[in-house]
Amino acid sequence: MTASYTFIDHTFDVVVVGAGGAGLRATLGCVEKGLRTANITKVFPTRSHTVAAQGGISASLGNMGPDDWRWHMYDTVKGSDWLGDQDAIEYLCRQAPEAVYELEHFGVPFSRTEEGKIYQRPFGGMTTNFGEGIAQRTCAAADRTGHAMLHTLYGQSVRHKAQFYIEYFAIDLIMDQDGACRGVVALDMATGEVHRFRASLVILATGGYGRAYFSATSAHTCTGDGNAMVLRAGLPLQDMEFVQFHPTGIYGAGCLITEGARGEGGYLTNSEGERFMERYAPSAKDLASRDVVSRSMTVEIREGRGVGPQKDHIFLHLDHLDPAILAERLPGISESAHIFAGVDVTKEPIPVLPTVHYNMGGIPTNFHGEVLTLKNGNPDTVVPGLMAIGEAACVSVHGANRLGSNSLIDLVVFGRAAGLRAAELVQPGARQPELAKGAGDNALARLDRFRNASGSTPTAELRLTMQRAMQEDVAVFRTGETLRSGQKRVADVHAAMPDLKVSDRSLIWNSDLIETLEFDNLIVQAIATVEGAVNRQESRGAHAREDFPERDDENWMKHTLCWVDTNGKPAIDYRPVHAYTLSTDIEYIKPKARVY
Ligand code: FUM
Repeated sequence: MTASYTFIDHTFDVVVVGAGGAGLRATLGCVEKGLRTANITKVFPTRSHTVAAQGGISASLGNMGPDDWRWHMYDTVKGSDWLGDQDAIEYLCRQAPEAVYELEHFGVPFSRTEEGKIYQRPFGGMTTNFGEGIAQRTCAAADRTGHAMLHTLYGQSVRHKAQFYIEYFAIDLIMDQDGACRGVVALDMATGEVHRFRASLVILATGGYGRAYFSATSAHTCTGDGNAMVLRAGLPLQDMEFVQFHPTGIYGAGCLITEGARGEGGYLTNSEGERFMERYAPSAKDLASRDVVSRSMTVEIREGRGVGPQKDHIFLHLDHLDPAILAERLPGISESAHIFAGVDVTKEPIPVLPTVHYNMGGIPTNFHGEVLTLKNGNPDTVVPGLMAIGEAACVSVHGANRLGSNSLIDLVVFGRAAGLRAAELVQPGARQPELAKGAGDNALARLDRFRNASGSTPTAELRLTMQRAMQEDVAVFRTGETLRSGQKRVADVHAAMPDLKVSDRSLIWNSDLIETLEFDNLIVQAIATVEGAVNRQESRGAHAREDFPERDDENWMKHTLCWVDTNGKPAIDYRPVHAYTLSTDIEYIKPKARVY
């Protein structure tokens, strides 16, 4: 069966998979160090999902008032509900200002203050003086910050002669017998040719898997392809039960309305016209952390105070703000609200609903970006030749809940860290061992399996069943009962896969075959998500169990590791949280109650 393909072989020092913010920053870092670097991306780089990031990137520049990276660290630890690794959080917050100034020098067109400094806006959970005041820490390019970053980073990577393989779909990793990664196999979706990339280092920057759910702010391309490749390599994913619902997805459409809208003074109301966040978060109100706001909105709807004919959503008001400010700072969401909700934001509220937005879980790594696994009792064992960064990774700086604007900074700080580590680990042009006989055949077998899928169930049908199960059963609030139902529903979807029917088998973008490969990636991540959630008997950050409403540090301050085998069977273990800092000039932040 596999004999029908001939590999087109390449050798690079580093292969980066994915060309969003993290992948491009790592690519740039590697080429700057003289490493022969390929970037494989399934979409044109400037269409990667970072393009959709709106509100901004956090860094304690202090342009709009006093700020300190230690305050940023405190907020991030608290936002993570003490599941974040504090060594990595320290690294993130300490490096953040330098990483943003670097972006400025690369050419990112940030919005400016009167004095010409980078403009910064307030975002949820970002405070001054360890929780006392509201910080303006989120650096913005209007409400198109990700778009500005992505274009700048792509331009810089091209300028430095990184080699791009555009619209190539990565099918699987090449792992050797000792458990080291040796490369990756990818399909050129324009020609149908299969390429085998040998590399000293593979860096996965493949983003999140929001499309495991029915309604997400994520692009349709967000299928977590790297996460699934890691599972197929027999490695675990971490903390997959922590899925972030952004409070303000447009009702019905799911498109993002940036938290920056509330940062600029927007607020939420229920059917009684009440600013209900004042009850749930008396200090931070509408700028409480996302998990808190999403839960509050859900409670309002459940208790009958939702708006609209079905009383099933909430209003976001910007109509009291100066139209000139809206035009200058929030032009993108003003347009989205008009297109997707038919709303003129200067006159009417936007109908919104908590919508799946971000995966805190992913491929476990240390703060250099090196992938970790559990081996001989050591959960910090590095997998040779493999790194992960960005939303695909779980480093873990976001723990159980990510603060808004900490995602873009995560991309560039750890993208940069991966480039620095790559330069330490790999000598430019170093000789690499020959690939073993049959290397890459796993990827060909996978391709063949779906090319020859001639059952009776269309991929779209199974995908929809999975997405509905995740949306209904693994939601903002969870119970043992809903999660067990979700567990069974996603297991049934996996079990139905031998009956898949792939009608359009062309090896091109958007064909049924490519969507089936993506669905095959999504379903194993759905399984890992539900499994982690069923097992975690506490509430922490985005994981809100109604049957276990309290955080339980004694038993559950630990990361979930989940493996999923080829039969879709999950296995769970745990690893300790890194409850220590990197440097001695800063102390571990001890757990306490999380109120806003
Ligand atoms: O609301 C937003 O602009 C999203 C930002 C983020 O997820 O970091």
